[in-house]
Amino acid sequence: MRFPSRSALLATAATAATLAGVACAHDTSDVINLSKDSFKSVVDPEPLILVEFFAPWCGHCKALAPHYEESATALLKESPPIKIAKVDCTVEEDLCASQDIQGYPTLKVFRNGTPAEYTGPRKADGIISYMKKQALPSLSKVSAAELADFKTKDRVVAVAYLPEQSSHLSTFSKVADKHRDAYVFGHVADAEAAKAAGVTPPAVVLYRSFDEPEIKYTGPIDDEEGLEDFLKAQSVPLVDEVGPENFMTYAEAGIPLAYYFTEVNGANKDADLKAIRETAQKYRGKVNFVWIDADKFVNHAKSLNLAGESWPAFAIQDIQGGQKFPLEKLGSDAGKAIASFVEDFVGGKLVASIKSEPIQEQTGPVHVLVADEFDKIVYDDKKDVLVEFYAPWCGHCKKLAPTWDTLGERYASIKDKITIAKMDATTNDIPPSAGFQVQSFPTIKFKPAGGREWLDFNGDRTIEGFVEFISLNAKNDVKVDPSAVNSTAAKTEAEQHEKPKHEEVSSAPALCARSPR
Ligand SMILES: *[C@@H]1O[C@H](CO)[C@@H](O)[C@H](O)[C@H]1NC(C)=O
Ligand SMILES: *[C@@H]1O[C@H](CO)[C@@H](O)[C@H](O)[C@H]1NC(C)=O
Repeated sequence: MRFPSRSALLATAATAATLAGVACAHDTSDVINLSKDSFKSVVDPEPLILVEFFAPWCGHCKALAPHYEESATALLKESPPIKIAKVDCTVEEDLCASQDIQGYPTLKVFRNGTPAEYTGPRKADGIISYMKKQALPSLSKVSAAELADFKTKDRVVAVAYLPEQSSHLSTFSKVADKHRDAYVFGHVADAEAAKAAGVTPPAVVLYRSFDEPEIKYTGPIDDEEGLEDFLKAQSVPLVDEVGPENFMTYAEAGIPLAYYFTEVNGANKDADLKAIRETAQKYRGKVNFVWIDADKFVNHAKSLNLAGESWPAFAIQDIQGGQKFPLEKLGSDAGKAIASFVEDFVGGKLVASIKSEPIQEQTGPVHVLVADEFDKIVYDDKKDVLVEFYAPWCGHCKKLAPTWDTLGERYASIKDKITIAKMDATTNDIPPSAGFQVQSFPTIKFKPAGGREWLDFNGDRTIEGFVEFISLNAKNDVKVDPSAVNSTAAKTEAEQHEKPKHEEVSSAPALCARSPR
């Protein structure tokens, strides 16, 4: 599953972790420092080892460091011990190139030398839990004697009570294989153990370290999707506080996330949360609910199109669909307002909020596109459309501006066939009809006339580059005289992109680009 990039939540966390790192620095380390010469001899014999590829200058690596140290110390105490190592890619350039390292930090789990992507969290407890799960088989055979201990192995432990030859076992194993990174799975065959646990086989029970500690699955066990939905729905607390350390869980749950933004000591916080819990219970499995520190994460509120000026406030985010539903004024009975808002949301009665600047009167050769007229302009079947999505603060965008204006001028005489447009993606949301969100600036996309498909422009950002791309991909006859092309316009490199400063919430881990800026 892919999600957009990271959030304002994370920037704050990185800062906190960096500060903690200074305080916690100690002389000896349990993290093995690997070099080109030691890499194979250390990594290949280990049935399980975690390796971080990092650069000392990278802020995300610095933020991870104290958590990585803490995890190494804790995981060495496991039996058998789980080792943790690191490679400094500024020193070991060849080794990192051979491992195809594209950004820092990159974490990989090696099993006897075979790498797999590490997809877990970057906080100590999360890393420890993830690696402990990696050390277990995807589905553990659990005896009666082991059961009590096994139930507490992780935040969420799924146990199937099934006879040895049960036909349900293959479905449960399949789910376990697929979700082994997220949950611990066990199989109890012993009928006496099931009885002692108060369970009648065939049954699946979830043991949790939060809310009600035991939840029985009530659907058919051979329903793979049903089991997965059950796991997703029950693996988060009813209404938890959300922050960078647990955001991933919600992003991966694949259902919309509802936020109650409140000051930590907000006057009505407790009463509101009590009411929200009832709503959350009602829509469990359809919408996840969290509360969030509004002062700390005001940029996150703004990214959900809340004004960010008064609390409490509420918003629902459809993370997959990139849609947001803010509710600014909660009135005197916030619990009630939220309940009816969520009901409307689930009933499909709400219209997603799309931030837009006012529609402009067009005066220049480049069309100034805003969200409110997006569909009308870009899905005008008669025209090919080239759009630059930019941010005012982005240096590469500023450099591109004169080229873009010149490009607009080149096509000005055939405006009925092609539109050269630009859209400020910080003051306008990209409507869901586009089917994409912008991750870096500038992003340049082309939509040939008559279709709904977008093409990425990844060529040279020169007049020649754009003209050639357009003539190759346009559906209309939009040839311009190449000699009329003004090549004095500023030249910019294709690879130059900038990440948003206030990134939207996302799940892809925060990475530093391979070389320092
Ligand atoms: C780790 O190894 C690198 C060589 O790969 C070396 O330059 C660096 O000084 C080592 N760091 C420590 C803390 O030993
Ligand atoms: C060519 O582009 C440059 C930079 O944008 C501009 O100053 C110049 O006037 C343009 N010349 C023509 C002939 O359009």
